Amino acid sequence: MTTTLRTQVGILGAGPAGLLLAHLLHKAGIDSIVIDGKSRDEIENTVKAGIVEAPAAEVLAKSGASDRIYTEGQKHDGIEFHFDGQAHRFDFQNLVGKSVYLYPQHEVLKDLIATRIRDGVPPLFDHLAGAVLDAETAQPRIVGTTRDAEDFEIIADIVVGADGSGSIARIPVVGSRGGFFREYPFAWYGVLVEAPPSSDELIYSRSDDGFVLISTRDEKVQRMYFQCDPNLDASTVSDEQIWQKLQAGVSGTELKRGPIFRKDVLRFRSFVAHELRKGRVFLMGDAAHTVPPTGAKGMNLAFSDVLWLDQALRSFFATGSEALMDAYPTNALERIWKAQHYSYWMTTLLHTTPETTEFDKRRALGELSLLTSSRHAQQYLAEGYVGWDYGVDDWD
Ligand code: PHB
Repeated sequence: MTTTLRTQVGILGAGPAGLLLAHLLHKAGIDSIVIDGKSRDEIENTVKAGIVEAPAAEVLAKSGASDRIYTEGQKHDGIEFHFDGQAHRFDFQNLVGKSVYLYPQHEVLKDLIATRIRDGVPPLFDHLAGAVLDAETAQPRIVGTTRDAEDFEIIADIVVGADGSGSIARIPVVGSRGGFFREYPFAWYGVLVEAPPSSDELIYSRSDDGFVLISTRDEKVQRMYFQCDPNLDASTVSDEQIWQKLQAGVSGTELKRGPIFRKDVLRFRSFVAHELRKGRVFLMGDAAHTVPPTGAKGMNLAFSDVLWLDQALRSFFATGSEALMDAYPTNALERIWKAQHYSYWMTTLLHTTPETTEFDKRRALGELSLLTSSRHAQQYLAEGYVGWDYGVDDWD
């Protein structure tokens, strides 16, 4: 027995991109079904990163998806860079008149899921997609199985793959790996710590020992990272070694310690799929691209895809014209490559590798010195960090 459902837009993935697209389409009177193989509980309770750029916060708040971002999110007006034994602050308000919001992604997801439930169209959790079929027909389909082993099929006018880096929807579009790739010879060792914040703002540190980032989740839980070998087994590092590494990166700031309750190794990759569309199937978010975490661009970049695709689908359903759907890859890719560059730039600026020569080190310090002494250079950093405008303004 296969349950067949019919909708205008079938969306794989109840992540920020899939849920936001569904919400914007709903506001325009277009129905969609969002499916995800995970349970609601897993999605809402997996602690995730949380820098929301100014334009992304505006989209969430103004579209009615999250009223909590400005009230419960922490407004951050700057960040610190530590290098060569000194601390430098980038004052975003002073440089570009905007701030970012520290509001973890799982909180964004809770808001978006609550919005879909309020609107009477809850996501279908525990629905694992197996394949996307018939991409080049007017009726593409998603087929899969529920956690209770029941087969389902969703027949749609459009299918959207917002199903993350292991995307199933990517297969009909580009095959399982078809994309532009870059691997990095390092990773981040990340910990979640039960302790109060050690710093009011995020600290990014570069030293000969590598990179350290002091971030936060809330008043009670802190997120911290140090650079490590990508093949390191997270369980082999003791708490004492972790504190030593982290504290060495921020010598002027006394880190507040507490129990470490999660340890993980985050590999670094840059990826852009060769194609973002095949027929009636579109890719967005991590299904379409991955950035290394240094600039905290992942979810913010996904929202750009959402706004371009929302605009294209609204036009398609209103007029039957495919012109904006045809333009989607070009429109989305412009920001995707800008964000790829920014994330790559911040990553290479702040990390060293065993191959880094004495020349490379001095050159990097020269670049950091330029950044901290030139207002124009600081504005370049700040503008990219708080987020460039999306360039789509009719989403509301
Ligand atoms: C995080 O809090 O996990 C985080 C913050 C800033 C970054 C990357 C990750 O640039």
